[in-house]
Amino acid sequence: MSAETLTAERTSTEPVVKLQGITKGFPDRKKGFQRIVGTTDVDIDEGEFITIIGPSGCGKSTILKMIAGLESVDEGSISLAGEPITEPSRELGIVFQQHVLLPWMSARQNVIFALETDPRQKRSKQELESLADEYLELVNLSHAADRRPTQLSGGMQQRVGIARAFALEPKVMLLDEPLGALDALTRHELQLQLLELCEQHKRTFIMVTHDVDEALLLSDRILVMGAGPEARIVHDITVPFSRPRDVENLEQDPKHHELRSFLLSSLTGH
Ligand SMILES: Nc1ncnc2c1ncn2[C@@H]1O[C@H](COP(=O)(O)OP(=O)(O)OP(=O)(O)O)[C@@H](O)[C@H]1O
Ligand SMILES: [Mg+2]
Repeated sequence: MSAETLTAERTSTEPVVKLQGITKGFPDRKKGFQRIVGTTDVDIDEGEFITIIGPSGCGKSTILKMIAGLESVDEGSISLAGEPITEPSRELGIVFQQHVLLPWMSARQNVIFALETDPRQKRSKQELESLADEYLELVNLSHAADRRPTQLSGGMQQRVGIARAFALEPKVMLLDEPLGALDALTRHELQLQLLELCEQHKRTFIMVTHDVDEALLLSDRILVMGAGPEARIVHDITVPFSRPRDVENLEQDPKHHELRSFLLSSLTGH
């Protein structure tokens, strides 16, 4: 299967996120300056679920941090709805691999805390509480809203992180291996929740993952990065499965097998 046969025609509407000729490098003690990300162009449309996969150290997190405005680009530009991204913005919600909740606050208070800092809206205490509860319910955490992070499992903490980012209603959700630190069973449960979340609440997602099955389950498009240095996107694959998706039907689809082996071989080089 060639990458061309998998790549659908792009629409002509303005992309919500546009990476134009970006490159990025870091100083290296032995080799001097090392370019990590080679010239990269990507257009991401509103409502798309994009995953980025690629070998460890190729620059996936670096790309996500540049989109988040947490790292500058060396060359080129990144824009959000036509405006250049130069610093972190409320329109870009971030979920990292490790949950970063405030340990002295309950799950509900963690979500409220984020909502309170939103300068776009002043809300009453009651409004904040009911909004936080609404988002905790979306990730099936209503029963644990009063627990503090130490009283929550890793998977539950990640779900609070997702609820918190989602509650701020960003234009784009950026997720860096959000399920990476979880055991296989919890991970699968959360994949299904994330699937439901993105299908019921259409929003743009850009997620880094190592997991080919996760990418196939969740994405509209999979960007495969090659190995570094100067790593680039080597395949931009349109995932052809309709939504809502059902895991069992998906896995029985011959196209699923075909894409899965294509992705695995592009990652391992075999
Ligand atoms: N702030 C930094 N200073 C120097 N080098 C960095 C910095 N951030 C990242 N790098 C280097 O850039 C390369 C890409 O890192 P990055 O974290 O983007 O990789 P990744 O694809 O996310 O890897 P993984 O799959 O292991 O998370 C690595 O070699 C890393 O050491
Ligand atoms: Mg990474």
